[in-house]
Amino acid sequence: MLSASGPLVGTVRPPSDKSLTHRAYILAAMAEPGVPSTILRPLAGEDCDATLAALVECGHDIERFEAWENGEEPMTLVQPGPWQSPTIPLDCGNSGTTMRLLCGVLASRPGLSATLIGDPSLSRRPMGRVVVPLRSMGAEISGETAPLQIEGQRLQGVDYESPVASAQVKSSLLLAGLNASGTTWIKEPAQSRDHTERMLDALGVTLMKDDDGRIGVMGGQTWGPMLFRVPGDVSSAAFLMVAAALVPGSQVRLIDVGVNPTRTGILDVLEAAGAAVSLDIPREETGEPVADVTVRGDCPLSAFEVGGPLVPRLIDEIPVLAVLATQCQGRTCFRDAKELRVKESDRIAVMAHGLASMGASVEELEDGLAISGPTPLKGAAIDATGDHRVAMAFAVASLIAEGVTTITGTESVRTSYPDFLADLMSLGGSTG
Ligand code: S3P
Repeated sequence: MLSASGPLVGTVRPPSDKSLTHRAYILAAMAEPGVPSTILRPLAGEDCDATLAALVECGHDIERFEAWENGEEPMTLVQPGPWQSPTIPLDCGNSGTTMRLLCGVLASRPGLSATLIGDPSLSRRPMGRVVVPLRSMGAEISGETAPLQIEGQRLQGVDYESPVASAQVKSSLLLAGLNASGTTWIKEPAQSRDHTERMLDALGVTLMKDDDGRIGVMGGQTWGPMLFRVPGDVSSAAFLMVAAALVPGSQVRLIDVGVNPTRTGILDVLEAAGAAVSLDIPREETGEPVADVTVRGDCPLSAFEVGGPLVPRLIDEIPVLAVLATQCQGRTCFRDAKELRVKESDRIAVMAHGLASMGASVEELEDGLAISGPTPLKGAAIDATGDHRVAMAFAVASLIAEGVTTITGTESVRTSYPDFLADLMSLGGSTG
């Protein structure tokens, strides 16, 4: 049981960014063999570890330094080797990013043969969204849900218009396009996170953008080793931001947070709801904007609207923003968020059910949620269905709930935020 007997106060460096760690590992393995790449402060969570283990199976050498030694930051060295067919199925665990990005990387390596598998949640998630466009480039991939069997081919560039705003789809195609003949173009209905594009740009790869919002990459480009320091993950920091906004008198400073504008919808919404949010020491780390973010919990909160192009900018934060909405004056609507139904769980259904059992006034919509507030929350038995973001969202809800909340399925936090509970307790949350 978690509770906040008083305000949450203190400073936390959130875990490093999951999206950036995956991409740094993959682009390091795709670099020209020679000098290894150095990834400083990668996320040590199960999702990114699945990517790393898959790369080892594909012939790359990895050396990890996990402890802070002599003031040195934890780091992973990635030495690219010749790509080889793994002798065992590549287990992507719970990680959609691992499976979708590796699809593009592996399908574009002629002669390579690989099987991608995942846990029960990942095995239910749609892979057709990458498999179908990759097939149009000449890829041989069987299955549209895991397990996926890939027989690498020489691919040709395509011009693809994706029906979903998904950075995983965009990245998978761009990574395949880098090893394809001709140019690969992708257009998405709204801008998704642009980490792949920024990282490629920082590595000296030429990307093309046109007025129509299409992004293109010419095949055959190569790059050398990278030195990349991974900033903190705004999506993980979001749980502590919302906790601070909800618990009166709180003041939480989150340092070294990635504030790429394609990810900062959470900050815009907190401000729209009336929370006191301030950013300082803005800086840049290898093409990614970074800042320290402080949130105070002494403001009345009002309902907010989430829909349209804002959705991909906060897609992973909707579970915890739904908790925030229960304490806002008025009716908050989350629309255009059908994507949530195919995340690690059906996050619309699971959040609607769990919040209702805690006493919230919540309506499940086909593409989102409508929540009226404020309503006092009461303790309940919650099944996080093995979804890390749902588990952490309900942990935040339990801080302000009257009575005992028990959450099952919390081991899942190991995928993205292994120290979540410790960080929350360091700010004054307590278990009992
Ligand atoms: C991610 C993109 C998002 C996000 C996921 C990580 C990425 O998925 O939900 O947690 O690293 O590219 P989609 O872009 O497919 O929505």
